[in-house]
Amino acid sequence: MFKTATVIWINVNLATMDQTIDGGYGALRNQAIGICDDRIIAIAPMQDFVAPLGEVTIIDAKDRWLTPGFIDAHTHLVYAGHRADEFEQRLQGVSYTQIAKLGGGILSTVKATRRATLEELVTQSQPRLSALMAEGVTCVEIKSGYGLNIDDELKMLRAAKILDANNPVRVTTTLLAAHSVPPEYKNNPDQYIDLVCEQLIPLAVDESLVDAVDVFCEQIAFSPAQCERVFEAAQKHGLAIKGHMEQLSNQQGSQLAARYHALSVDHLEWLDEAGVQAISSSNTVATLLPSAFYFLRETKLPPIELLRRYQVPIAVATDLNPGSAPLASIRLAMHMACTLFRLTPHESLAGVTCHAAKALGLSASIGQLKVGMKADMLLWNIESPAQLSYQFGMHELLQKVFDGRISDVG
Ligand code: NIG
Ligand code: FE
Repeated sequence: MFKTATVIWINVNLATMDQTIDGGYGALRNQAIGICDDRIIAIAPMQDFVAPLGEVTIIDAKDRWLTPGFIDAHTHLVYAGHRADEFEQRLQGVSYTQIAKLGGGILSTVKATRRATLEELVTQSQPRLSALMAEGVTCVEIKSGYGLNIDDELKMLRAAKILDANNPVRVTTTLLAAHSVPPEYKNNPDQYIDLVCEQLIPLAVDESLVDAVDVFCEQIAFSPAQCERVFEAAQKHGLAIKGHMEQLSNQQGSQLAARYHALSVDHLEWLDEAGVQAISSSNTVATLLPSAFYFLRETKLPPIELLRRYQVPIAVATDLNPGSAPLASIRLAMHMACTLFRLTPHESLAGVTCHAAKALGLSASIGQLKVGMKADMLLWNIESPAQLSYQFGMHELLQKVFDGRISDVG
């Protein structure tokens, strides 16, 4: 079994996150796990383990825990500038929606992002990506959405691709051109949607810049009918579909996304039972973003009980962005998912592993410790996986494995 392994961890507890293994976390205690290059090739209890002959690195994990690498399935980490001034305004009582209506909000980051060169965008975004990787993120989704014209949307996606090439992390890219109505199309948003569908999506596809398409379905952004046009164009080009849905009001965007078999719908504070039912039938993941809920000081909770009742897979992500979630920490998002949304530590870990993989359409290759899966793994100095959600800022990470490549945490 372990014959061709290049690295083997022994005396290790596995939080496999394999939902078919009974008990929380798909836990297997006192195991050996072997990888060959970038794949997991063998898992066996220690009592059955015989060290293979030949050249292999054996790491004694000393009864510590190994988890799948964390997957941050919703970020806007490529952008220029910051919005600390709006933070101050909001602390004085001005709302996120008011700021957006006055031409600030997303549009203020659009101005800064349009001004930045590709290189500047990469340089400014790198520290945010590094912060996520430092905490154990081995796969991250990055959205466009602060360009809002052909050149600058493509520039954002190219920046995400450069970050992918420059870092060990796996990056997936999402075109969020329908994020906000650009000032040039203020009086004719439908014409902007034409541009997105007829020009931007085909160009992004031609340059292999994009895996999925996202929309912001909201009063301050795009109507369900406009979002549907974007979904149709995405579907025509074979792109996966995602949506910022029911964040500030119930637009029934989740039901629309479910009709298009969206990979995920995200935010969901205003989601109702019909919406939960729809996404459950379409096997769409509900991605919760507690950091945005926290930072905007929202009070309406997403319908967690209904999501559980309808057995909707729940992902948890940072939503890292300059306006509603300037928090580059997946561990804080996990912690907040428990403290603010009352997810269990098991649900929160599933939210950044197996269910996050599903939200990106990658559940066949990442998100679980299973033979055949990619070797994206994290070794933790903890006694129970619940500690990963319970405590925060404790530096328990010992080793990160990106696609089979080990980096020890100093
Ligand atoms: O996911 N809701 C829309 N988009 C982002 C916020 C973007 C911004 O304010 O810059 C979000 O919360
Ligand atoms: Fe977002």
